[in-house]
Amino acid sequence: MSLVTIGDLEQSRRRRDLAETLGGIGRKYLVMSGKGGVGKTTVAVNLAAAKAAEGYAVGLLDVDLHGPSVALALGLEDADMALGADEKLVPMVSEFGLKVVTIQGLLKNRDEAVIWRGPKKIRAIRQFFSEAAWGKLDYLFIDSPPGTGDEPLTVLQTVPDARPLMVTSGSRLAAGDVAKAFNFLKLLERPAAGLVDNQSWYICPKCGLETDLHDRQAAGRLAERAGVPLLASLPLDLAAGRATEEGRPLVWSQPEHLFSKRIKELAAVL
Ligand SMILES: Nc1ncnc2c1ncn2[C@@H]1O[C@H](COP(=O)(O)OP(=O)(O)OP(=O)(O)O)[C@@H](O)[C@H]1O
Ligand SMILES: [Mg+2]
Repeated sequence: MSLVTIGDLEQSRRRRDLAETLGGIGRKYLVMSGKGGVGKTTVAVNLAAAKAAEGYAVGLLDVDLHGPSVALALGLEDADMALGADEKLVPMVSEFGLKVVTIQGLLKNRDEAVIWRGPKKIRAIRQFFSEAAWGKLDYLFIDSPPGTGDEPLTVLQTVPDARPLMVTSGSRLAAGDVAKAFNFLKLLERPAAGLVDNQSWYICPKCGLETDLHDRQAAGRLAERAGVPLLASLPLDLAAGRATEEGRPLVWSQPEHLFSKRIKELAAVL
């Protein structure tokens, strides 16, 4: 019989906690993109809100450790996460019952920069799964930073059934980076559930005229090349942007808005 170290015991406890947590969560979606600023956070919070409005138990995990935006987008920028009686991290809860875990809720000084690299980031993200009191959830949406670095990689390696949901903005600048992100998923043999096109067109709030901001066919071609479905084309909408800034996702504050309807159609296929 070989000697067991404290480290071995700790590791096996973590593995057990992780398996237990993941077993209690239904569908898991990693919202990602090769490009920054395309609307990952906006899509993630609105999708989570749409599923919560349908009556599902929903969680939202922010693995954007250097630029966490989920707390602000849900009006939780002043909320804290604490340790519960069982030493597990207690998620923050949004006004519509969404359970939220983000590094932002652990920072004493809200403007503190998180200066972590590789191993520390990987450990923190794993702990967000294994050491948070997620309880039973129907859906977990995971908002990631741009690119194909430690954060999305760690999620995909830690959560075998997490399905990537790719976001693009329809611009050629985004398309190149998003094509790389699709290749990253190919290498990992983790095909995306689909592509979401965001902000490639808009409707003038004054005259109602629909205008293309980018080539509207570009996202379709990108999806086809990646062999995934184009699941939604969301307009650039001032109300949607403002709602995120104000911490009340549009799907929740204005469910009948066109942007909200498109998000709800997307949520219905997830
Ligand atoms: N469909 C939309 N209509 C209007 N504004 C939008 C839309 N989608 C996103 N925005 C706005 O664009 C900005 C960037 O969006 P968001 O933060 O969701 O992008 P991101 O991809 O998460 O960015 P990052 O790569 O920095 O994490 C935000 O100010 C947001 O409110
Ligand atoms: Mg973001």
